[in-house]
Amino acid sequence: MHFALKISAFALIMGLAACAREPAPSPGNNATTAAAGPVAAEPAPVEYADAGQAADASLPLVVVHKGPACGCCETWVGHMRAAGFTVEVRDTQDLDAIKAEVGVPVGQGSCHTARVGDYFVEGHVPADDVKRLLIEKPDVRGLIVSGMVQGSPGMEQDGVPQAYDVMAVAKDGSTSVFAHHGD
Ligand code: CU
Ligand code: CU
Repeated sequence: MHFALKISAFALIMGLAACAREPAPSPGNNATTAAAGPVAAEPAPVEYADAGQAADASLPLVVVHKGPACGCCETWVGHMRAAGFTVEVRDTQDLDAIKAEVGVPVGQGSCHTARVGDYFVEGHVPADDVKRLLIEKPDVRGLIVSGMVQGSPGMEQDGVPQAYDVMAVAKDGSTSVFAHHGD
C-alpha cells in the first residue's frame, strides 16, 4: 500500500518536474506587509496579468489549486480565461488533500485540481469539455486528464502532441471516457 503510494507520488513529481517553469517573482509581494495573526487555511488567490480578459458571466467561477512553481498550470489557467471563464488561483503545498477531498482517484491525478460548480476538473482538461460538462450536467464528480499529456491545453510547448482521453469520474469512483482528443 505504502509502496504503491510512493510510486504514484514519484510519477507525479516526475511529471511536475517536466512541466515546472518557475514564474517570475511578482513585484510588490512584500511579506513584511502581511497582517499579523494566524495563518489562514486557504491561501490568498494569486493575481495574474491577464486577469482583465473579458469573462463570460454565464460561466461559473473556476477555482484552481496548484503548486506555486507549476508553469503548465498557469498556461492552463490562461486557456480557461481565454475561453471566457473567470479563474481564481490558489497556490498550495498540499494538493493531495484537495484531490482526496473532491474525489480524484488515487494514481489518476495531474498537476492541478480545479472546482467548477459542483464538479472537479483535474489536470489539462480542454475548456470546451468543461463547458459541455456544465451544459449536460451528468451525475458525476468531475473530469480528469490523467498525468501530463503533450498537446493538451497548457502542455503545447514541447514534445509531440499525444492522443488522450478526458475521463468522467462517477460518484462510485469508476471512470468512463467523456471525450477523446488527438487522433
Ligand atoms: Cu501540468
Ligand atoms: Cu497544472
